[in-house]
Amino acid sequence: MITDYQRLAVMNKNHLWHPFTQMKDYNNSDPLIIERGEGIKLYDVQGRAYYDGFSSVWLNVHGHNVPELNQAITEQLGLVAHSTLLGMANIPAIELAEKLVAITPVGLNKVFYSDSGATGVEIAIKMAFQYWKNKGVAGKTSFITMNQAYHGDTIGAVSVGAIPLYHDVFRPMLFPSHVIPYPYAYRHEGGETKALEATLAALHNLLETRADEIAALIVEPIVQGASGIIVMPPGCLRQMAAMCRKYGVLLIADEVATGFGRTGAMFACDLEEVSPDLMVVGKGLTGGYLPVAATLASDVVYEAFYADYDEQKTFFHGHSYTGNPLGCAVALASLKLFEERNMLEGVRVKAAFVEQKLAALRHRPHVGEIRQKGLMIGIELVRDKVSREPYDWAEQIGVRTSLRARELGMLTRPLGNVIVFIPPLASSEAELEAMINILAESIISVTEGGSVA
Ligand SMILES: Cc1ncc(COP(=O)(O)O)c(C=O)c1O
Repeated sequence: MITDYQRLAVMNKNHLWHPFTQMKDYNNSDPLIIERGEGIKLYDVQGRAYYDGFSSVWLNVHGHNVPELNQAITEQLGLVAHSTLLGMANIPAIELAEKLVAITPVGLNKVFYSDSGATGVEIAIKMAFQYWKNKGVAGKTSFITMNQAYHGDTIGAVSVGAIPLYHDVFRPMLFPSHVIPYPYAYRHEGGETKALEATLAALHNLLETRADEIAALIVEPIVQGASGIIVMPPGCLRQMAAMCRKYGVLLIADEVATGFGRTGAMFACDLEEVSPDLMVVGKGLTGGYLPVAATLASDVVYEAFYADYDEQKTFFHGHSYTGNPLGCAVALASLKLFEERNMLEGVRVKAAFVEQKLAALRHRPHVGEIRQKGLMIGIELVRDKVSREPYDWAEQIGVRTSLRARELGMLTRPLGNVIVFIPPLASSEAELEAMINILAESIISVTEGGSVA
């Protein structure tokens, strides 16, 4: 008799094309098919349980199947599932906008909704571009990004992306951006100080010579995510922000991965008291429940668009599901839980716990570096700890380690040779410890061929 799993696996193979996936490899493996979630665990159709060790791609906050969040959606569903923001408003979209303005850095007073991090970035880029045009300043049309940056997969977001593996194939169809080095201390021969100096010097040079061509700098504040969870040296973001201000270049903070408590502050910008001109949030905004993103703008940016209609300064951009009431309602409920459960303090305590538990792994022969900010952790595996020689990409060390973790009951997805550990913020210390044990066991068994004991 054909089981439900087999039936779904065949349909999956026949009809689904998965993101960021070589389907030839995937179709030769037994697919994981999730049926439900409870707390910080996901359960597959065969009844196996897995810790959600990467928060379903970095977005889950309070766990799965959370009664308060489910209820917010159900209540809103009883009113209306969707109505547009084109020319009208809805209650949750208004209330969430007010809430977002209250919790984001000072000066960000306007909220423009969309439905994913990439669309939020796309909006920020277009706003920055049109801002200068509306102000009557000609020529400020290009963008600065950082080496290995990732801002999503739409064409504008890819144009300010700088990960060759993902982005090079599309290069001919992208607009060019200026790329400055990201301070990747572990792989900089001068260490943290020199890496920071190199970044600031490159930005300074560019601004000094070409600020009149540049609309904005876009940055993943404090932690560059998709490049391998790389943490900036202290002061880097603040100094970059100050330089942008000095040279009249807008600052776009892409908080899609870092926002909503992930780094131990509500937003990574808060860690260095930076107020960007534009800020993009997504992922954790709805607690990881529904696809809502937002681009927040300062009054200065907003006012450049605020004019008589015939001045043609309108921002002509929108998406069908912009300001979706179900998504906004669950985002409001999630933010309420942040306060009621004192989530930020919880993250700081749990982050210290995780740091201490991970310390034992630092000495393993193939653990090059463990990087952490809050509950955002990347473990870089290397072939040679002394020379820091990386594993060859073809060895797929990250993939193999993550697959081992899955066998042991935890889900995660690597970034090349970097093992990602981004647990839901609601994880208890006992759950964190269980996940770290699985991580350790997977890393040791794959890189050393042994076992923890
Ligand atoms: C910093 C950053 N920006 C943008 C995005 C894109 O978000 P989305 O996948 O929701 O389009 C991501 C996704 O990982 C991200 O990490």
